[in-house]
Amino acid sequence: MKAIAVNGSPRRKWNTAQMLESALSGCRDAGAETELVHLIDLKFKGCTSCFGCKRLGGPSYAKCAMRDDLTRVLDDVWDADVLIVGSPVYFGDVTADVRAFLERLWFSILMYNKEHTVRAPKSMPVKIILTTNAPEFGFHKSLNEGLIGTMSRFIGPAELIEANATLQFDDYGKYDAGMFDVDDRIKRHNEVFPQDCRRAYEMGKRAVAEAKELK
Ligand SMILES: Cc1cc2nc3c(=O)[nH]c(=O)nc-3n(C[C@H](O)[C@H](O)[C@H](O)COP(=O)(O)O)c2cc1C
Repeated sequence: MKAIAVNGSPRRKWNTAQMLESALSGCRDAGAETELVHLIDLKFKGCTSCFGCKRLGGPSYAKCAMRDDLTRVLDDVWDADVLIVGSPVYFGDVTADVRAFLERLWFSILMYNKEHTVRAPKSMPVKIILTTNAPEFGFHKSLNEGLIGTMSRFIGPAELIEANATLQFDDYGKYDAGMFDVDDRIKRHNEVFPQDCRRAYEMGKRAVAEAKELK
């Protein structure tokens, strides 16, 4: 049993990464091996419309034909039993790196036949973690619905949690950040963020249990 987590934040140790680490810790406690990929460490592009994944009889039919650092990650995703994707929300969407990852992951298995068949090599639970400046869950409602809808249809039952009003800087005094109530951010970071991480941990445990049921 293996769980892979993909971190779409350019920051390897901040909010999204910590939520993902918590989720993976839950996966490990439920008996899974884990892998954490930081997309920022990889050299890769989004889909380049080569259509190798649609080429009838071709060597990459229903697989991403591009060859770069993401190739191994896509292979690892399909080897795994649980997929966890984490992203900060940037301008109401996932980060550019996550978008590029999802283009490659999704487009390669979506067939252009009349039925729009999805040829995923397997079904697995998908857990999505978003972290936001926005104060509450569901502020970016259509983003959440789009991610859950596509992941569920393409890969497997999907669930999404968020950490909201996250801490963005070590020291707010050093930045032009007058829009924030700094005391409230710090209080929230100390009191609510640990609970968010706990929810991520529980979600990781749940994901492994669900993956066992799917087997
Ligand atoms: C370029 C950029 C755009 C952002 N856009 C949004 C946004 O549209 N909505 C939001 O709630 N937060 C937005 N944020 C805040 C981040 O989503 C939030 O601070 C997140 O927790 C950062 O994750 P990290 O600590 O893992 O890097 C933005 C931050 C950056 C740097």
